[in-house]
Amino acid sequence: MSNYKDIIASNKDKKGGIIEAFHAIQRDYNYIPEEALKEAAKVFGVSEAKAYGVATFYSYLSVAERGKYIIRMCESAPCHIAGADEVLKAFENILGIKAGETTADGRFTLELAECVGQCQGTPVVTINSKPILNVQPNDIPNILENYK
Ligand code: FES
Repeated sequence: MSNYKDIIASNKDKKGGIIEAFHAIQRDYNYIPEEALKEAAKVFGVSEAKAYGVATFYSYLSVAERGKYIIRMCESAPCHIAGADEVLKAFENILGIKAGETTADGRFTLELAECVGQCQGTPVVTINSKPILNVQPNDIPNILENYK
């Protein structure tokens, strides 16, 4: 994981550097920590409100703290019909969180997603963008074992 300060510094002189920096930070941290927003504001010479505005303008950037692993349950129709709701409920029970939340140990964030283009294997879950196909509630403990 790169330090957010190094990422910001390395984008300092680029056009649109603040957006590139936020992208790179999100890749490493899964979200943009508040200290990184402050640092970016300082380095790019904008107000903190402006830096925050840039980070929240793009829906693929997140300023809310997220876990090390982002679990996304596909909720589009084919996955829905194949039982996505039961799978989602099982994730919520096992992790002790609701969709949109992060476990207290910072390990997992549970989110919903639109079709991820893997409808041949519904219901589909992605973990840090890696698709896992045909997920059944009983599979979840084994799946989570792979993400420590
Ligand atoms: S609907 Fe879920 S992957 Fe396409």
